[in-house]
Amino acid sequence: MSYDKLPPIAAALSLIIGWWFFAGNALTAEPAVDYPPGKLGEVVRLGEEIVLQTDQHPLSKPYVGNALRCTSCHLEGGKHPQAGSFLQTAAAYPAWSPRESRVITLEDRVLNCFMRSQNGVRPPNGSQVAVAVTTYITWLSTGAKIEMNAEKPLGPNHVPPIDLAAHQPANSERGKIVYLQRCSECHGEDGGGDDDNPPLWSDRSYNDGAGLSRVEKLAPWLKVAMPLDDATLSEQEAIDVAAFVNSHARPRFNLKDHLPPPERRGEYNAKK
Ligand code: HEC
Ligand code: HEC
Repeated sequence: MSYDKLPPIAAALSLIIGWWFFAGNALTAEPAVDYPPGKLGEVVRLGEEIVLQTDQHPLSKPYVGNALRCTSCHLEGGKHPQAGSFLQTAAAYPAWSPRESRVITLEDRVLNCFMRSQNGVRPPNGSQVAVAVTTYITWLSTGAKIEMNAEKPLGPNHVPPIDLAAHQPANSERGKIVYLQRCSECHGEDGGGDDDNPPLWSDRSYNDGAGLSRVEKLAPWLKVAMPLDDATLSEQEAIDVAAFVNSHARPRFNLKDHLPPPERRGEYNAKK
């Protein structure tokens, strides 16, 4: 029903209720649940700490090869509604993984981000770090309806894609102008970041096997995530600045350097 067909008072009410729902629910990052009691709650909190301090936390640091944290891309510890959201994510797993040609669990999916986005080594399945992070992400899905994803390992609130074909081809020259206007104040002209802002390229950032190393993944993420707290890039700007960011050197992903020894590996089937 459209608003102009409603009596004015009903239209006003539905707008107010709609606003309340949108502002109060859809955009509230914090899920309306408490930490579980007992040891389970302790493990949820441990997972949250690891997500917020991945490159520093003693349990995750040995598996991290750059200066990033999960929260560098999964904003607000995964509580952001769109930018790497973990809200309701667990409900999509186990999910089909085209890369591995097998069904993977949420834990497997967590471990993959260590190898690529964190440029580190895949922690063993069942390790304390793997269980804690998976427990935290699962807790963020409290109340969600299970709908396992039969196509790809992504949850219902994953980053909305951008149709690159509907825009001009990515142009890193134009992207550099956007970068200097909208990004360098935080990430630096050299992309190196500082104590408060993570590095965007160099061996301190994500490797070229990570999702964000592809313009088709980085552009839509930037559209909903950056500039931080002011994500107002146009789609074309996001595409161009993504090309500029990814025109710089970063670590090469060579699968065998990112896997633990076979006896600690569990099942991992991707060929590259
Ligand atoms: C350099 C950025 C980056 C970092 C750092 C990073 N990730 Fe990711 N991660 C991504 C992107 C991009 C995706 C795909 C998201 C999408 O398309 O919505 C993703 C996807 C995921 C998913 C699947 C989400 C879903 O919707 O099913 C999980 C789980 C995940 N990451 C966990 C982690 C954990 C845990 C860490 C820290 C150990 C981490 N990631 C670090 C970029 C990153
Ligand atoms: C106000 C400061 C600020 C601005 C401006 C800003 N960023 Fe960020 N950016 C951050 C912070 C802080 C994070 C990490 C998020 C966190 O820890 O909460 C981040 C994370 C990132 C990441 C993922 C992590 C990594 O280091 O690879 C990318 C990519 C990124 N920003 C690109 C950009 C681009 C491109 C622009 C310009 C369009 C931009 N940012 C503008 C502060 C900023």
